[in-house]
Amino acid sequence: MAKNPGVTSSWRDIPGPPPTPPNGNLADIVAAGGLHMFQLDLHERYGPVARFELPDTRVVSVADPDLLAVTSRINRRPEELFEFLSPLFEAGNLQTIPEHEHVPWRRLLVSALGDHRSHEAHFDAFTRITLDLVGRWAAAAGEVALQEDLSELSLGLICEFALGSELESSAAARRTSTAFRDLLAEHLGRQYGLPSAVAEQEREARAAQALAHLRKTITLILDARRAGPDRLRADLVSMLADSDWIAARVKDTALAVVMAGYHTSGVAVSWTLHLLAGHPEIARRVRDELARVFGDRPAPTYPELRSLDYLERVVKEAMRRYPPGPYAARELAEDLALGDHLIPAGTTLMYPIWAIHLNPAHWPDPQRFDPERFTATAAQGRPKFAFIPFGFGPRSCVGAALAMVEIKLMLAVLLRHFEFHPVPGHVVTPVERFVLWARDDIKMTLTPRAATSLQRRQPSDDC
Ligand code: HEM
Repeated sequence: MAKNPGVTSSWRDIPGPPPTPPNGNLADIVAAGGLHMFQLDLHERYGPVARFELPDTRVVSVADPDLLAVTSRINRRPEELFEFLSPLFEAGNLQTIPEHEHVPWRRLLVSALGDHRSHEAHFDAFTRITLDLVGRWAAAAGEVALQEDLSELSLGLICEFALGSELESSAAARRTSTAFRDLLAEHLGRQYGLPSAVAEQEREARAAQALAHLRKTITLILDARRAGPDRLRADLVSMLADSDWIAARVKDTALAVVMAGYHTSGVAVSWTLHLLAGHPEIARRVRDELARVFGDRPAPTYPELRSLDYLERVVKEAMRRYPPGPYAARELAEDLALGDHLIPAGTTLMYPIWAIHLNPAHWPDPQRFDPERFTATAAQGRPKFAFIPFGFGPRSCVGAALAMVEIKLMLAVLLRHFEFHPVPGHVVTPVERFVLWARDDIKMTLTPRAATSLQRRQPSDDC
């Protein structure tokens, strides 16, 4: 690539903190409280394009939406950052498979995950699973830990979507959800060095058993679909059974989709409820909309859900303030001219989603929670990449549309049934655990809003 006069041509010429050998800026990241906090400070000090160093990895972090647009065709992800997920995959790490494999893989996945008909096909089951949680919360008076319960709920929804009615008995569903929980706990725990009451060897053995169980379950579904005439099922594995993919790739895909949807949607709902609890006037407006759209019924229908416009603005604003995925990353296969810089091939590009969402140039008074930022008028003229909770480009989130259905449904049902009150003295601290997690959870007490037929329901466990 030709170099422009006046353009800096070396990674070291890009502004950024001095690395502290031997681990680059790792000590600074730890001192800041994690990568999400480090990136906020990095861009405040060094501007929209800033460099830093991870062990053996040179990083350039880009927080300017117009410069992000220049990078929007890059497909490659850095392998080291996603290495910790490699043991999950039999046919190549789906987070980092090369472009020629990724493009056809993604095309099929988008058609399965992004189709409104597949969302609608699962909507009644999603509603039932969400109402089960309402029943459990109503029965257990006292404090609830939102993040824990809502991650569990979103695990239930994504298992239903990916594996469907195959998990017919509640015992099978429970075993599968426990397996996913053990697997993610082990891989995230190792990645973030989290303390555990369980000895390392036992954790590893549990994770290996969990992975074997999940692969077996998915294989059973796949074999049944490929052998039988029953092609009308709407679960993801059944949809993928029609493809010419090898079984290992279907298994990997189902695992990757459940892992990607496990925490993210629940975290988005937890942060939204946290913000709404501090803004009762906005919560009231959401409830007015819910009452207008689905009255006294316990949950909306699918078409009604799609018409909840104010709720959608609230969710977007909550994901701006607390993006469930706080950063994304790419790797440069060739030099890239970016503003005043020429970034050398081999550099890792980071998209600091949280810093981008709090940039005062595009979000005046960025800490203020204001859903009106997402009216069509307010959004006019704002750069496209100023709001990227689902990333962008050829590696953006394939589950975005499904996630919005899940999140809006969970919120509509939960806000219809409960008032949420923060537990006095409980401090909510965002930390990075691959998602933007709250360190000590988000604790609330609940006040039921109205007696419904739910009280007569028997809670049942879903995957
Ligand atoms: C609030 C919910 C969610 C958020 C905020 C979120 C966010 C993200 C982000 C930031 C990325 C990386 C994008 C990039 O590199 O540009 C991503 C990738 C991905 N997400 Fe999501 N996600 C959510 C829910 C889901 C759900 C429910 C699913 C599955 C149904 C899913 C499946 C995936 C997959 C498979 C990828 C990798 C795509 C690829 O490499 O081509 N996500 N997501």
